[in-house]
Amino acid sequence: MVNVCVIGAGRVGVLHTTNIMKRVPKARVVGIVDKNADLAKKVADEYGIRCFSSVEEVGEDPNVHAVVITTPTFTHHDIAVYFMERKKHVFCEKPLAITLEEAFNIKKICEKNKVKFQIGFMRRFDPAFREAKEIIENGLLGDIMSIRSITRGPGLPPEWAWDVKKSNGFLAEVNSHDFDSVRWLCGSEFEEVFAYGKVRKAIEIAEKYPDFYDTAIVNFVLKNDVIGVIEGSCPVEYGYDARVEILGTKGLLTIGDVQNFQSVLFCETTKRAIRKTVSSWPERFKEAYVLEIESFIDSILNDGEPSPGISDGIEAMKAVLAANKSIQEGRPVRIEEVG
Ligand SMILES: NC(=O)c1ccc[n+]([C@@H]2O[C@H](COP(=O)([O-])OP(=O)(O)OC[C@H]3O[C@@H](n4cnc5c(N)ncnc54)[C@H](O)[C@@H]3O)[C@@H](O)[C@H]2O)c1
Repeated sequence: MVNVCVIGAGRVGVLHTTNIMKRVPKARVVGIVDKNADLAKKVADEYGIRCFSSVEEVGEDPNVHAVVITTPTFTHHDIAVYFMERKKHVFCEKPLAITLEEAFNIKKICEKNKVKFQIGFMRRFDPAFREAKEIIENGLLGDIMSIRSITRGPGLPPEWAWDVKKSNGFLAEVNSHDFDSVRWLCGSEFEEVFAYGKVRKAIEIAEKYPDFYDTAIVNFVLKNDVIGVIEGSCPVEYGYDARVEILGTKGLLTIGDVQNFQSVLFCETTKRAIRKTVSSWPERFKEAYVLEIESFIDSILNDGEPSPGISDGIEAMKAVLAANKSIQEGRPVRIEEVG
């Protein structure tokens, strides 16, 4: 049994707490902590778990074997390093960190302390993404020619994510999943990106955060010559939209749909057809969020190598940083320019 403490009682902290408690029998949540003590207490009371008063109190507790870090991105480095130095295994939400310097330090400290570290790219555990990966690996799609990956969020993430300095922008906060799954599906790293980022909807936010963009398109070429595009936008309001289209020499593969697979199609007498969209990311990737934690717990219990790991977090970060640089400088940016 692995005793886990959840660090951060916000949107994702509550999601992982629920999943571990209800669906991961080899682990138990022994407590939760948040900078916002009232919030931590509220969540702890609701789930009947211990409310730790500080990160340090968690770090000093030998009963805690692993932590699930769900705090804002700009805190990931310090919190992850703190726990790894205390020999706690770490599951850390994406993106890995803000700077590559921080990311490489996380890798160094992880190796030094010989702890497990998994990053929250849960799409790799989604049944549809897995099926697509298998089709590609079995050669049924032939050689990949191009790929298009879209993620659009229904609402705005918390305010810290609007500040590009604290989040690396929506390309990191929302689209790092696309950067990771493009690498994973195509089996290659990014070579060059050319991105545009504009404010088309949330205009009032740009007045407060000048680097902010709510809509971005990233054209890219991978090292294996696959070309593609990543599209992101937030808030789109029509639903949570995560889709991938892969063109191969032997066919076309698509993952995901804006429409909820289980929903009915309602054709009105006005000849208008209505169908429910997928409303949120916790709903779309419900199974994947459970399977990624199960995989992390198994890597601890069986001394396996957690995957996706720190290197995956680093490669996604490099592509995001290059895309942000491309937006700012209005030119193509090779990945080697950022690290
Ligand atoms: N995998 C996914 O699909 C997914 C989805 C959304 C968010 N995320 C990631 O999860 C992380 C958290 O996002 P969120 O939307 O839950 O944010 P959030 O703002 O809802 O929650 C973060 C919580 O962390 C707390 N916190 C901040 N600094 C802290 C500190 N130093 N110590 C303890 N607690 C602290 C805040 O008070 C807040 O309650 C981000 O890195 C985000 O990118 C991942």
